[in-house]
Amino acid sequence: MEKEELKKQIKNELKEKDMSMQKLLEIKAAYLGKKGLIPSLMGEMKNLSQEEKPAYGEKVNALKNLAADLFDEKKKEIEEKEIGQKLESEKVDITLPGKEFNTGSIHVLNEVIEEVEDLFIGLGFEVKDGPEIESDRFNFELLNIPKDHPARAMQDTFYINAERLLRTQTSGAQAHTMIEYGGKKDVRIICPGKVYRRDDDDATHSHQFTQIEGLVVNKDVTMADLKGTLLTLARKMFGEDREIRLRPSYFPFTEPSIEVDVSCFKCHGKGCSLCKNTGWIEILGAGMVNNNVLDMCGYDSKVYQGYAFGMGVERIAMLKYGIDDIRLFYMNDKRFIEQFK
Ligand code: DAH
Repeated sequence: MEKEELKKQIKNELKEKDMSMQKLLEIKAAYLGKKGLIPSLMGEMKNLSQEEKPAYGEKVNALKNLAADLFDEKKKEIEEKEIGQKLESEKVDITLPGKEFNTGSIHVLNEVIEEVEDLFIGLGFEVKDGPEIESDRFNFELLNIPKDHPARAMQDTFYINAERLLRTQTSGAQAHTMIEYGGKKDVRIICPGKVYRRDDDDATHSHQFTQIEGLVVNKDVTMADLKGTLLTLARKMFGEDREIRLRPSYFPFTEPSIEVDVSCFKCHGKGCSLCKNTGWIEILGAGMVNNNVLDMCGYDSKVYQGYAFGMGVERIAMLKYGIDDIRLFYMNDKRFIEQFK
């Protein structure tokens, strides 16, 4: 059989336009399968003389390659058509609304905490954790607030029993750290965390809120160090051109005690509703650690001194983002939460 003849014959068999893959395989088997035409031509080799064999073998091989090429070509054609049909039948409807992927976001209170932590870690502070279920001793006594002290009334407490309570302030971290450090090591910590008070919830009160406590104790720290640290904090949280102002105040665990105001970042000191026309906004309480506290916690107040500060995270966040109701932080309304992504 000649090449041209075979080509014509196969092409004729494959000319059907919508041939199925199944049909193609059947035709292919008739030529190239074990009992097909080409192998049977090969089989005739045994009837030939030694001299005739090489030329004959070469010829049949050429026929085999030709046939294989023709079938491959058709196979490709059928596959392409099948893909085309599949794409056509599975057409994507681009007018359908897409799937929504809800990604979470960090809560604004945690964001403020992390911002403050970043700053203080950069200033060489360690971040400490404290227990939310606290003893009377650490929440009050060691902070110079004995049983009958009027300051206890200011922090209406959730008691678990006579000795156990939900901490009303993160200041207990001061006593925990000083006792842990055994009255010897220098202290340089902040402690963020939840605190609890028996307040009725309203726009400015929440029975649970968040504070960040700070404490530095060593042999030569002064109020000037405290002021410098708080100025750095105020500028980080409220803008580089802020100033701070210290006002005398009272806390049992500090002497002297101060309240710290930041220059109004809304009106820049001119006077507005946010700063109640004073140009200043109160942001936190602080002071030099009371000698009684140092001594009770094992640091000799004749040798050591310290400063402490405590701030309300909600207050900072409310000022920074113009939030007017503390309850928004705890209602988990996505419309509120998602604004801080
Ligand atoms: N614990 C105080 C409060 O809850 C805040 C505070 C004020 C903490 C002065 C301090 C400080 O460490 O020195 O109101």
